Amino acid sequence: MLFFRDLVDAFFDELEEENGVNDVSHLLPMVADLLTAGMETTATTLNWASLYMALYPDVQRKVQDELEAAVGKGRAPTLADVPKLPFTEATIKELQRICNVAPLAVPRMTATDVELRGYRIPKGTQVCMNLYTVHMDPKYFAEPEVFNPNRFLGDDGKVQKMEAFAPFSAGRRVCIGEQMARNELMIFFTTMMTHFTFKLPEGAPAPDTSKGKLGITLSPPDFEVLAVRRTSGDILESI
Ligand code: HEM
Repeated sequence: MLFFRDLVDAFFDELEEENGVNDVSHLLPMVADLLTAGMETTATTLNWASLYMALYPDVQRKVQDELEAAVGKGRAPTLADVPKLPFTEATIKELQRICNVAPLAVPRMTATDVELRGYRIPKGTQVCMNLYTVHMDPKYFAEPEVFNPNRFLGDDGKVQKMEAFAPFSAGRRVCIGEQMARNELMIFFTTMMTHFTFKLPEGAPAPDTSKGKLGITLSPPDFEVLAVRRTSGDILESI
């Protein structure tokens, strides 16, 4: 919530300067936009994460082992630990690539007539960037249907930049919350992995991850997982 406190303070500072850019009636929609754009996307990514960890126990164990070795027991991970967590970071990137929570980014409109690869797009046309097809293109990601965090690791074991990886879109309209979202995903995901192991209930069929539900975001198909407390083995709840 600190972020919103800072934002609201900055907004009122601007208002006091009376530069005519802001009007107090903009405040509520602005905070609402940030909350919706930021919460739904981040929560949906974490929802997918709990499903993928249940489906890929080897990946989940590797993340937990890396966390234990780098952070130790009894302390929550912080952003300062990130450089020691390359496999965990690669796992989050691979989740974002394969889950595509914002598959069509945000609809935009051409401000002028544009020519793109021989197609003429008139001024005022609604355009969407198809991030899904980029993330699922074998030209950029070998065997794109396969969940494989190692694709984001170089030979030196460090996280490598992949040009076609764009869950936050690209260019001038790239998500303004990218840095905040990356930090949130790291902290929430590592905290989940520190305290819980996700498992499919005994005998439950594995959901088909290619059958996500498309609304404002692409969310996972209906599924049930057990969040098993790592210290006691208690099941927190079935999600
Ligand atoms: C996993 C989390 C997130 C993902 C995957 C994501 C993805 C995206 C994408 C793909 C766009 C469209 C960019 C374009 O049109 O090319 C976008 C726009 C936007 N995002 Fe995010 N986002 C996330 C988190 C956040 C957070 C935490 C905030 C703010 C607190 C935020 C605020 C916004 C806003 C305000 C826009 C619209 C920007 C504009 O119209 O220029 N997002 N986001």
